[in-house]
Amino acid sequence: KRLVVLVSGSGTNLQALLDEIDAAGAQAYGAEIVAVGADREGIEGLARAERAGLPTFVRKVRDYGTREEWDAALAEAVAAFEPDLVVSAGFMKIVGKEFLARFGGRFVNTHPALLPSFPGAHGVRDALAYGAKVTGCTVHFVDDGVDTGPIIAQGVVEVRDEDDESALHERIKEVERRLLVEVVGRLARNGYRIEGRKVVIQ
Ligand code: GRF
Repeated sequence: KRLVVLVSGSGTNLQALLDEIDAAGAQAYGAEIVAVGADREGIEGLARAERAGLPTFVRKVRDYGTREEWDAALAEAVAAFEPDLVVSAGFMKIVGKEFLARFGGRFVNTHPALLPSFPGAHGVRDALAYGAKVTGCTVHFVDDGVDTGPIIAQGVVEVRDEDDESALHERIKEVERRLLVEVVGRLARNGYRIEGRKVVIQ
């Protein structure tokens, strides 16, 4: 299976996928990353892709007259690589109708909180501020909401009294990277069905 991964930051989730595919071999893992896309230049995630010899592309919202034009351009850029599965690994933009029309049902996101708790761009900070005793990460299919699509898997992470946002986020990412690698591999190898809010992996 062909994966396109979208990033906006450090790309450690991307790196976890690259390392697993490198270690297991694309054949055994069931997928290979064919391209990495971003919404901005100069991020470590793109450097990681380049170091791995992968094609990269950037589509910046501000380069387009409207959000819809950006969304269509992003969808075009992704479609050029003919992916079977698109993975948002820290991609910090909400995609629109055009993108979902083409990739809905095969677009997976990882979120650093236990959805439906703490959706949005500050899930780690919000869980900490709320005083949650456990939080975690969620891998889910992307739908037309914000972090509202059908949940595939979740991992639990305890919140410690001394945690600040970055310490907690790092601990979450340790679980998140393993969860993402495991879920993407299973989706790619086994195939899956989405039945309402349930995801059935064969
Ligand atoms: C991940 O925790 C992801 O869930 C969140 O941002 C982080 C991205 O980390 N949206 P990285 O870029 O994969 O290191």
